[in-house]
Amino acid sequence: MICLTLSGSTLDEMRRETEENGNYVDLVELRLDLLDEKEQGRASLFPSMVDKPVILTCRRVKDGGKWDKSERLRRALMLSALDGEFRYIDIEEDIRRNTPLEVKARERGVRIIRSLHIFGESPSNLLAIAKKMATGGDIVKIAIMVRSIRETEELFRLSQKLSDIDKIIIGMGEYGLPTRVLYRKMGSYLVFSSEKEVAPGQISAKKLKMLYRADRVNKTTRVFGIVGNPVLHSLSPEIHNPAFHSLNIDAIYLPFPSESIGAFFHFAEYMRIEGFSVTIPYKKDVLSYLGNVDREVKMIGSCNTVVRRGELWKGLNTDYSGFILPIIKDIESSRIKSALVVGAGGASNAVVWALRNFSIKVTILNRTLEKAEILAKNNLSDYDTLENRKKYEGKVDLIVQTTSVGLYPGENISPLEGFSFTGKEIAYDIIYRPKMTKFLKDAAEKGCTLHFGSEMLMAQARLQFKAFTQQDYPKELNVLED
Ligand code: ATR
Repeated sequence: MICLTLSGSTLDEMRRETEENGNYVDLVELRLDLLDEKEQGRASLFPSMVDKPVILTCRRVKDGGKWDKSERLRRALMLSALDGEFRYIDIEEDIRRNTPLEVKARERGVRIIRSLHIFGESPSNLLAIAKKMATGGDIVKIAIMVRSIRETEELFRLSQKLSDIDKIIIGMGEYGLPTRVLYRKMGSYLVFSSEKEVAPGQISAKKLKMLYRADRVNKTTRVFGIVGNPVLHSLSPEIHNPAFHSLNIDAIYLPFPSESIGAFFHFAEYMRIEGFSVTIPYKKDVLSYLGNVDREVKMIGSCNTVVRRGELWKGLNTDYSGFILPIIKDIESSRIKSALVVGAGGASNAVVWALRNFSIKVTILNRTLEKAEILAKNNLSDYDTLENRKKYEGKVDLIVQTTSVGLYPGENISPLEGFSFTGKEIAYDIIYRPKMTKFLKDAAEKGCTLHFGSEMLMAQARLQFKAFTQQDYPKELNVLED
């Protein structure tokens, strides 16, 4: 079940939030601590205002909530709220048993969620604590702030050991995202979502339901994803998940923020992940974990796609073909014979190598000359500093922008500021957010043909999809079209 933690400060706002998310959620959580003081006494009315089951919760500051008044008042408020038809009530693990609150809840058939929130070190006897919390048939809720994928893996292992009890195990924070999206793989009773971030790392109900289809995941659902750091803003889940859905493939693709590529491989083995994309900063570090690599990985020295082949991990580089495919016709027709590549970082490396592989004459322009020189020598190219850019006006067929200059939110700058395009060049930016970078705008003003980073992103993702599933990416899907 997907549960929405309501964040409104009045019952009416909470009702509106429930209605707006009606298609995405199975139940909602009313947080007494988030309500305005004058509304708190009316909470018992709420269950009859909405058509979803409701959890009653009043979260204390020490558990990550907003309740900072007396414990007596808190209990009294919850007790009177129980006059309403709540389906569940959240009672903390440190509250002794058989309080009037618990007794009233049981009398009224309200199921108890026994909760424990841990923001610091997690206790070594967590398993024993969890088993004790389950006494009386209560649902055990354990939410732990996780600061690594290693800790996230421990939570998956913990939940496996609690397979015979109703539980909700949550890794709070960015690293805990898999515990939410894959809550059904963990055997969690429900997952919490929110519109605003009511708890760290929560995601929206709409995303859980529509993008991830998290409530359809089962034991056999195949798991794919993207490893990186940072990675939560990757567009790849929005590319792969709709394709699984459209082809009726029982699979899910999600971001895996990871503190190291080694820790991620450990997790991937445990979860039997079938394949994943690799992004910054692990495209090179990943190489030492691969049993087998394709020619492009060998030549470029970086890998963006890993697939399980038997018991081995195989590395591919789809950035190479993803970059070339949008301009392949112009290469084959000899419209592109020379190129200027701006930047000499990791992304530039794959671009330069791909162009050289098609015998295109390449000049690398970079702010730091030494980096351009090293890259140029490895790829039999020319190089120069960015300051000398005007020297190349009217001299090249293709200009590729590979630096991070112009990337959202710094979109009003171009590394080629002051460069005069003739209009005959093909301008290609590998940045995909924004689609129209300053570099491309300047080129468009002179009538240049443009290629967008989103074309490369889609092309490389289609190749990944094929490597992951052995099926072609659905032609009719154009998920990045704006
Ligand atoms: P990536 O792997 O995304 O290519 P990178 O390896 O950090 O990232 O490379 C970033 C590229 O953007 C480099 O070419 C960098 O130039 P330097 O080698 O001189 O650092 C370039 N770059 C970043 N900020 C820049 C700026 N403000 N002006 C010009 N070039 C910049």
